[in-house]
Formats: sequence, structure tokens, C-alpha cells
Amino acid sequence: MNINWDAALYRKNFSFVPEYGKAVLELLSLKEGDRVIDLGCGDGSLTQKLADMGADVLGIDASAEMIALAKKTHPNLPFERADALEFSANPPADAVFSNAVFHWIDAKDHPLLLSRINRALRPGGVLACEFGGRGNNGAIHAALKKIFAKRGLEYECPFYFPSVGEYATLLERAGFKVEFASLFDRPTEQAGEDGLANWIRMFDKIPFEGIPAREADEIMEEAARELEGKLRRGGKWFADYVRIRIKASKEFEV
Ligand code: BEZ
Repeated sequence: MNINWDAALYRKNFSFVPEYGKAVLELLSLKEGDRVIDLGCGDGSLTQKLADMGADVLGIDASAEMIALAKKTHPNLPFERADALEFSANPPADAVFSNAVFHWIDAKDHPLLLSRINRALRPGGVLACEFGGRGNNGAIHAALKKIFAKRGLEYECPFYFPSVGEYATLLERAGFKVEFASLFDRPTEQAGEDGLANWIRMFDKIPFEGIPAREADEIMEEAARELEGKLRRGGKWFADYVRIRIKASKEFEV
């Protein structure tokens, strides 16, 4: 899935993405000088944290906008534009870290993604990642599906949100030993009165392709009315995030 990011807006309203990713760093027991790839590094905030923890880092992202922002913000760190389905590492890394990225990759491509990661790691190397898990943003996608249907439009959730069982199986097939896996709810506050609509505009662009801007705005207003009772508390919007968090080590080469 290719997304053109508005990198500045992402930084302004959605800095919770790297902020929450800090907990995933704790899955890594890094030693000084460990080679770590931050796969889907975005604006580089977590690549910087990895470097602060003593890692020898490389940030990779498919988005030219994000790589430009990462290089500007962290000029002393190395960043490269590359697709997660095509990247490689030479020499192999001690760890691959990835936060809030895998749900952007189509379900059919995950065996390839995991084989790329496997080959980019040394034997025993670790994958630590977190992304949207089964049921992620379920209320938002259900409301949009209903509103689209009323207008004779088709809504298909464009993300991949697997269960632990499903993803652990993929990891094992791709040569990993799953050491830790968890699925948990994480309601996530969205900034401002239009927090829900802004979230949809930023992240859920694909279903709105080809829909005139005015109709898209109406759909978002309707979604806000529909979801107010469920996702708004104390005057604040909370997106209904569900995370899958995983630590797996490379058992054999695929
Ligand atoms: C997530 O981090 O779970 C996510 C973000 C944007 C769109 C879909 C999922």
C-alpha cells in the first residue's frame, strides 16, 4: 500500500505514534553497538531513541517525505528510502524493530516481509514489532462501512490486522521462534474537536479515493455523530486501537 504522507501534519497531530512505540523498544535487550534496523522509521524519532540506547542504527522507510523529514531532524543518523518487501542488510543486523507499520502491508505480502526480515537478521537476531491487531479501529471501520453502504458505496478496510495465532503461525513458517506475543486494547486520544475526522483523513485515505471532497466531509461528519457515544469521553476523541506486540528470534534461515 503506498501512501503519500503529509509529514508535517503527522508530526503536529499524530506524534502519539512514535510516543507509544517507546514501549516496544523495551522488548530489545540491546548491547552497545548492536546493529538495529528501524523498519518503517517514519520521522526517525524512534531511530534516535535506538541510537540513544547505544545501537548502531539504520532507519528505512518507503516514504520519501518521511525520509526527508527524518534526515532533516536527525542529521547524524543514517536513513534510506526502501520498501519493506525489498530491503536487505549486509552485514546482517542484530535486531529489526518496527512500530505501527505492518498493518499497512497487504495480508498476502506478509510471508515475503517476514522472509526479508529473516534474511536481514543474523542467527538468533531479534524482531521486535507492534502494529494494529485483530479488531483494531473496529468501531471506526464498522461505522464507515455502514455510512458508505447507505450511500451505495463500498467500504473495504484497507489494513491488515491479524490475531496472535495467525501471526505467530506466519512467523514460525518464516523461521522465527515467537518469544512473546500479546494483543491488547489501547484507546488512543486524538487531538482537538475534529480528532476523529482528522484521524480518518490522515490514515484512512484509500476508501475515500474518487469520492468528491464535499461528500467525504459529509461522511466524516456522519461518522462523528455515529461514534460520539462510543469513542468520545470527557469531550475528547479516543480511537479504538488494538495492538499486537511481538518479540521473535531467528531460529533458521529461510
Ligand atoms: C495503527 O497504528 O494501528 C493504525 C494507524 C493508522 C491506520 C490504521 C492503523
